[in-house]
Amino acid sequence: MNRYVVTGGAGFIGSALVRVLLARGHRVHVIDNLSTGNLDNLEEVADEITVHEIDIRDYDRLAPVIAGAARVFHLAAIPSVPKSIQHPVPSHDANINGTFNVLRAAVEGKAGRVIYAGSSSAYGETEKLPKSEGMAVEPKSPYAVQKLLGEYYATAFSECYGLETVSLRFFNVFGPRQDPSSPYSGVLSIFLKCLLERRRPTIFGDGEQSRDFTYVEDVVDLMLKASEAPGISGKRFNAGNGNRYTLNETWALLQRLEGVDLPAIYAPRRPGDVSHSQADTTAAVRELGHKPRFTLEEGLRLTLQWYRAHMNEEEPEEAGVKLVS
Ligand code: UD1
Repeated sequence: MNRYVVTGGAGFIGSALVRVLLARGHRVHVIDNLSTGNLDNLEEVADEITVHEIDIRDYDRLAPVIAGAARVFHLAAIPSVPKSIQHPVPSHDANINGTFNVLRAAVEGKAGRVIYAGSSSAYGETEKLPKSEGMAVEPKSPYAVQKLLGEYYATAFSECYGLETVSLRFFNVFGPRQDPSSPYSGVLSIFLKCLLERRRPTIFGDGEQSRDFTYVEDVVDLMLKASEAPGISGKRFNAGNGNRYTLNETWALLQRLEGVDLPAIYAPRRPGDVSHSQADTTAAVRELGHKPRFTLEEGLRLTLQWYRAHMNEEEPEEAGVKLVS
């Protein structure tokens, strides 16, 4: 039984995970409704995977794919803090009801461990940095509440139904294939697009807010470790790099890497925005053997390289990925 399911597998984090699972010899099934994910992300591995175009809100279609899976990586979600404020209904429905459906399908279909993609936004503003898993949580936005609730469900399902679950609190993940095209896109993807197009980015607030930007390969590595480590069911771990950089510092670094001078435009701070974010990685290092490998600069260089190579690419006529349902 080595069928691995990745919900949100056509997204930039999910597709990076799919590649590594395939390299390890697993059979991979992707569940994605292609709302923010894109089959182009899976193009090179199209012949090796099965893709199900299913919305996680649709239990009846979801359940048979999850039944009997050895591992379920649950990454499907409607991401973004501001999107959850402007469109709270779909965001609530996908992130809370969708997560409930995945967990329920895993219990009813006797699947193996579920690895849930939580969010560092759950912490909200904390007095201390870095943020550790034992701290009180204070979610500030609907998105943060939704992602936290998914963790609570994961723990309760472990406790009540014996389903193995592990939650990982992702800290601002970035890397190749992250879609920069929406105003809700992750800030680094937007910064990199601006840089390559020689445009000035907009920074919301004074730019002194800080983030623990985490390179996608480090998060994939941690997900694999969380899928294998014994004796951790029901637990949650930070999935971060352990550092933090302000937006001003990060934009300055990018300009330096590219040798350009493009001063940012400043706009009012966004509601629901957290001031500072930095992961305490102690528990992940101790219990999962976590070893972040990429500094911010290394990750940015690799991502910049990828965007440069792919930004002006023509849309392929056919993605080449076959949909099963
Ligand atoms: C939050 C979570 C993160 C989660 C993500 C999902 C926190 C600390 N982090 O990220 O774990 O994965 O949601 O979407 O809550 N910004 C600009 N200009 C832009 C775009 C954004 O200045 O064009 C600013 C935002 O106001 C924010 C920062 O950049 O201060 C990061 O924003 P974003 O990339 O959207 O992620 P978070 O909201 O931090």
